[in-house]
Amino acid sequence: MKYISLSAMALVMAGMGFNFTEARAEHICSPSGDIVLNADVIDGVPMYSVTYKDKVVIKPSKLGIELSDCPDMMDGFKLVSSKISSFDETWEPVWGENREIRNHYNELLLKLDQPTNYRKMDIRFRVYDDGVGLRYEFPQDGALSYFVIKDEHTQFAMDGDHIAWWIAGDYDTQEYDYTESHLSEIRDKMAASICSNASQTQFSPTGVQTSLQMKTDDGLYINIHEAALVDYSCMHLNLDDKNFIFESWLTPDAQGNKGHLQTPCHSPWRTIMVSDDARDMLSSNLILNLNDPCKYEDTSWIKPVKYVGVWWEMIAGGKHWSYTYDLPSIKLDSLDYTNTKPHGKHPANNENVKKYIDFAAEHGFDQVLVEGWNIGWEDWFGHSKDYVFDFQTPYPDFDIDKLNEYAHSKGVRLMMHHETSGSIRNYERHMEKAYGLMNKYGYNSVKSGYVGNMIPRGEHHYGQWLNNHYLYAVTEAAKHHIMVNAHEAVRPTGLCRTYPNLICSESARGTEYESFAGNKPSHTTVLPFTRLQGGPMDYTPGIFEMDITKFNPDSKGHVNSTLVRQLALYVTMYSPLQMAADYPEHYERFMDAFQFIKDVAVDWDQSKYIEAEPGRYIVAARKAKGTDDWFVGCTASEDGHASELALDFLDKDKKYEAIIYADAEDAHYKTNPQAYKITKKRVTSKTKLKLKAAPGGGYAISIKPVG
Ligand code: NOJ
Ligand code: CA
Repeated sequence: MKYISLSAMALVMAGMGFNFTEARAEHICSPSGDIVLNADVIDGVPMYSVTYKDKVVIKPSKLGIELSDCPDMMDGFKLVSSKISSFDETWEPVWGENREIRNHYNELLLKLDQPTNYRKMDIRFRVYDDGVGLRYEFPQDGALSYFVIKDEHTQFAMDGDHIAWWIAGDYDTQEYDYTESHLSEIRDKMAASICSNASQTQFSPTGVQTSLQMKTDDGLYINIHEAALVDYSCMHLNLDDKNFIFESWLTPDAQGNKGHLQTPCHSPWRTIMVSDDARDMLSSNLILNLNDPCKYEDTSWIKPVKYVGVWWEMIAGGKHWSYTYDLPSIKLDSLDYTNTKPHGKHPANNENVKKYIDFAAEHGFDQVLVEGWNIGWEDWFGHSKDYVFDFQTPYPDFDIDKLNEYAHSKGVRLMMHHETSGSIRNYERHMEKAYGLMNKYGYNSVKSGYVGNMIPRGEHHYGQWLNNHYLYAVTEAAKHHIMVNAHEAVRPTGLCRTYPNLICSESARGTEYESFAGNKPSHTTVLPFTRLQGGPMDYTPGIFEMDITKFNPDSKGHVNSTLVRQLALYVTMYSPLQMAADYPEHYERFMDAFQFIKDVAVDWDQSKYIEAEPGRYIVAARKAKGTDDWFVGCTASEDGHASELALDFLDKDKKYEAIIYADAEDAHYKTNPQAYKITKKRVTSKTKLKLKAAPGGGYAISIKPVG
């Protein structure tokens, strides 16, 4: 372990106005020595600060918890003891960006007493080369037993008016476009940042969600998020925009409380990533490392998935999940559809699903998602009762038995869809049978969804109760060997390390918004810095027909991307579950470009971030698991991007053929998105490629060894 001297530390701290004496301050460094964490109890208040290469990351910041109906755990503390330790291991994820991950940190454990209330609280800090994690721990020792959190007051004091890529604080949705602004501008830009069709519960004019990416004037990249969110409510950040101090702000329950805990217990980790190189933000494993190892003994049933699906037809194409408009004739209590008339725009029908199965089989996709297969959709959004769906009864035109049999005969599986419509008790009531039905027909993955206000009413998507539900759905699914891809659930915090059947989730503004209101061309150059920090996203890329009016005259939708950028997303937006979201007939018009989607891997031995700047561009290269094949992707904002790409990551002793999918000279995300050129080239590790991404464009390259 590398320590800086205490006197050097005292100088840094004095410069930061941290008034503690040299003798009392506890401090540890990252294994490299670049990150230094200081912690102490000052006038009874636990405090910490962080520097990176002697630059201030977190100014002295307070730590504490406010309780409901009993004295707070904010002050009156005494430092009883501190313990420093180190840890270094390398572990293998079940799926991931890299075959191996090193988990190497130095740890400081502060043991605190609050003598007036006979309580104890510990604060554990872990300092890695890529950042810091800290959490509160409440031992079952002393007077604290069951307690209710009024709010957590973890401060993150910034050293200036940094640039931030942020979305508005909200207890129920993250489906926002990011705003890039200085911290001091958040208040003014807040109203404009909120999308009109989200069911937001805005709580503060300066409140934002995590993961929050920032950049300082002197070139530091700082990211604040959380790891291992279990049995606790999700953290937002509220900004004191005069002093640039963020403070944690937890999601309340229906009664306004923010957590019900019983000792022994602990909070999730609060994470601070830092580097002077933006690429390190993307390659960081801090959040995964702060999660517990895999809890399952047998993980052989967990497999990355590439899929197509009956989906874009409803999202963009004006078709419906429901079978009929004839709501009054359905007996909702018994979900009896025998006397209803179909409206004829229900793509989850036998013939259409077979078409997708054939397409999947022909082009090597693993699965076919079918949404709208089950009864209940006529009443799903405006539902007043909590039992819309039973997740078991197919519509009359979806033959669950025959379709699964047909799919399996072609080496393909159907992917299950469970839209819960936020009705949690209903879902839990049916869950065992619903998963059982999946086992019966050979489904091994479910896309679940939580659209709409929560039932029980007043609960929020990101509250403790719901967070427990999402994990319950995942662990129950594991008992059935089912993988879960949850939409509208809480943002991920690395739990996929512990529960790798949490194969993916949405929890951000995905491709579906291209058809509703459009995404900013820069959106996919921000998401890997923010939403993807906690785990993969089911972004559903692969749209080839950008002009939605061409196949849906009632739509005004336009996908803000070039076709080639859609290919690159399979590399830049890491996920072990990837959809090719467009219609089969749209792919059939561009089979040469579609080849990249067919070829690209979904699981990797190695990943390298070659160029990156939030909101501008990302260039990533990944080596497909168990092969010598590499795939490169570049996504650019509306400014486009030029690269001189050195292929020095290739094996020096091998020769390769590269297929380069590039935007044409005149390509543009708005006016000419489908203009591309494909070239083949022999390359080696010495090759440098000059490449250009159009505005809202990118490039994609597949590289395979030859001879
Ligand atoms: C919203 C999800 O994000 C989308 O993918 C899904 O199709 C709808 N809900 C219906 O469940
Ligand atoms: Ca969604």
